[in-house]
Amino acid sequence: MKQQLVIFDTTLRDGEQSPGASMTKDEKIRIARQLEKLKVDVIEAGFPAASQGDFESVHAVASVVKDSTICGLARAVENDIVRAGEAIKPANSGRIHTFIATSPIHMEMKLRMSPDEVVERAVWAVKRARDFTDNVEFSPEDAGRSELDFLCRVIEAAIDAGATTINIPDTVGYNIPEQFGDLMHNLLTKIPNSDKAIFSAHCHNDLGLAVANSLAAVKAGARQVECTINGLGERAGNTALEELVMAVRTRQDAFAVDTRINTREILATSRLVSGITGFAVQPNKAIVGANAFAHESGIHQDGVLKHRETYEIMRAEDVGWSTNKMVLGKHSGRSAFRSRLEELGIEFDTEQELNEAFVRFKELADLKHEIYDEDLQALVTDNSAQRLENERYRLVALNAGTTTGDAPNAEVTLWVDGVEKTASASGGGVVDATFKAIEKMVNSGASLELYSVSNVTNGTDSLGETSVRMEKAGRIVNGQGSDTDIITASAKAYINALNKLESTQQKSHPQASV
Ligand code: KIV
Ligand code: ZN
Repeated sequence: MKQQLVIFDTTLRDGEQSPGASMTKDEKIRIARQLEKLKVDVIEAGFPAASQGDFESVHAVASVVKDSTICGLARAVENDIVRAGEAIKPANSGRIHTFIATSPIHMEMKLRMSPDEVVERAVWAVKRARDFTDNVEFSPEDAGRSELDFLCRVIEAAIDAGATTINIPDTVGYNIPEQFGDLMHNLLTKIPNSDKAIFSAHCHNDLGLAVANSLAAVKAGARQVECTINGLGERAGNTALEELVMAVRTRQDAFAVDTRINTREILATSRLVSGITGFAVQPNKAIVGANAFAHESGIHQDGVLKHRETYEIMRAEDVGWSTNKMVLGKHSGRSAFRSRLEELGIEFDTEQELNEAFVRFKELADLKHEIYDEDLQALVTDNSAQRLENERYRLVALNAGTTTGDAPNAEVTLWVDGVEKTASASGGGVVDATFKAIEKMVNSGASLELYSVSNVTNGTDSLGETSVRMEKAGRIVNGQGSDTDIITASAKAYINALNKLESTQQKSHPQASV
């Protein structure tokens, strides 16, 4: 009988700490519902003390998700723990994750606290969190660079104080697999009360080793892994959920554990997260990249056709590939539309929002005829992107074109603070001309850091999903837009990024000093 490996997803917290990946409350709810469908055990829904918006998002996720435990992050300080405790209150099962740094460099340079003070604070934080829930996780931040004896001391004290999960973060992605596995083994064998808590791995991917380090920890006895969809996360990201889960599932001969994950939901979850955050998935990414199951060279194809296992170690359909089938069409009615959205975990606050989405669906079905789940997700993502609260800019009309031998040009009409304005520009390409025309009207002072287009489904009639990353005075935002016309999608993404630059709240980072 295999032991259960708890899958703790932190896409909505550590994932959101990627520059430009911030999500709205509605987007977080959509992702959380999909994570629940994926059968993730614990969803870290955010850092409630970061801002009122973050608090509300965690609270909303805790209210709608029923099957997964909802976790809120808190530094080891009173306000964070109280906010996390209040935010997870509506959850069927709620957890507080509190942490404090334990490496010499973090204690000295960031916290300016002595080791004794850190132990005392950790114990206090765990006890305070237990006032709100019996399910308390404690992390010694930067454990990967902490001294073993001190780690043992602080963890033993945290377990005595009531921590039920002990998470070991390699915060800066410095460890290598053998070392991280040994660390986990040493902690489990040296700490006298280690059997009173589940030990967990939280690895960052700075050296590209997050999945390997997490697997080494599992081999050494960790029974929870913290991960994110598509490996999203600060800097080079976190352990990719899909890779970790499929490694454990595919190599059952090597691991004494299994997960509850419904692997058939992996691809849909990956696409939802990349659509909402604008972080595209590279084609050669394991499990969820477009080429992950594509056999191009003739010799491989021949082998696969004769006997699948010659070149395939997993079945594409087991992670959700090729289940992409037409779900709605030109003649589908409003109730079919509504019920398919409900199956995808998408609900609208008002009947008017549903009606507006239905109108957009009909427009799309006229252009595209066959509508897939991916189209519906993109349509809803686009809808929420174009409806930011307090938006200053909105696209009214676009006329862009290119003729061989002439400079491409664009004329854009925008709604700016309620006033319609029009400007034209030429550029190196039509997208460039469109962005220049927009800039003539808004004069944003922001710089364009990244621009990418991907198709939502196959075929030239596919919706194009465009992502634009912009930076202004150190703030980074990602804008999204989708449309069957990629120039329109690009204009929408650019405008969405401008609106986000205007409206994004400043929030505190959990790993900055208090
Ligand atoms: O990487 C890290 O150390 C973290 C902690 C907050 C657990 O994300
Ligand atoms: Zn982290």
